[in-house]
Amino acid sequence: MKKFYFIANWKMKLSPEGSVELISETKKKLKKFQDQVEVIFCPSFLALSACAQALKGTKLHLGAQNVFWQDRGSCTGEVAPEDLVRVGCQYVILGHSERRKNLAETNEMVNKKLLACLRHKLIPIVCLGETLQERQEGKEALVLEKQVQECFKNIVLESDQQLIVCYEPVWAISDNLGAREITIDDVEQMTQMIIQNLSEVVSVDFLEKNFHFIYGGSVDSSNLNNFLLVDKIEGGLVGAASLKAEEIIAMVKILANQ
Ligand code: PGA
Repeated sequence: MKKFYFIANWKMKLSPEGSVELISETKKKLKKFQDQVEVIFCPSFLALSACAQALKGTKLHLGAQNVFWQDRGSCTGEVAPEDLVRVGCQYVILGHSERRKNLAETNEMVNKKLLACLRHKLIPIVCLGETLQERQEGKEALVLEKQVQECFKNIVLESDQQLIVCYEPVWAISDNLGAREITIDDVEQMTQMIIQNLSEVVSVDFLEKNFHFIYGGSVDSSNLNNFLLVDKIEGGLVGAASLKAEEIIAMVKILANQ
C-alpha cells in the first residue's frame, strides 16, 4: 500500500515543553491514520529526547532538522549522526533553505551530510528549491539541476535505504516576506524536472521502490489536496501550519484519504 508523508518542521519555534504538548494533543487522534501516513515530527535538537518519550507506543516518527557529516570529532556545536539514532530519530531534514541562507550551507555540505545519514541508516529528507531572484531571472531549472548533481554526488543507495526529496521553492515558504503562491502547473513542471535530474544520479529501480517526493512551502489543510493532484507528490513538509493541532490532524486525514 502506498504511504503518504506528513513532515512537521517545527524549526526553532517550539520549546521542548511546547513540542511535547503538541505531540500529546495530537497523537491519539493520529493513531488511526498511522498505517496510511508516515507522520514525522521534527522538533529542535533539545526537544528530541522528550519527544521520543512522548511518541513511545505509537507508530509516529521523529526527525531532526540537521546533522553533522563526521561521525565524531572536533566539531564544536554540531550533533553526531549516531546520537540522533540513539535518541530515536529515523529521519533528518537536510539542506533546508533557511540553513542555506543563514548558515551558508552549500550543496557540498548537504552531500556530506547525506553520506553521513546513509552510513547511519537515517532517512534523509533533502530540500531543494530556488530563491525568488533565481526564479525571476529564469534560472530555476539550472539551480535545481545543480542542486541535484551536487547534493547527490557519489551517492550509493542500498536497496534497504529510503530517500525523501522535497521541492520547496524558497519564495513560497510562509515566513519569507511576500511569500507567493505557486501554481500547480509550476509544481508539476518542477517535480518532473527534479525527478528527471535525479534519474541521472540514482537508479530507476531505487526511484521506483525507495524514493518519495514531497512538496513544501505554505502547505496547509486548505491547499494540500491541490498539491496531491500532482502525480508524484506523496506528501508535504509543513512549517507554520504544523504548529496547530487541528491543522496537523486535518492534513494527516487528507493524506490518509488519498
Ligand atoms: P511553511 O514552512 O510551511 O511555513 O511555508 C515550510 C518549511 O520551511 O519547511
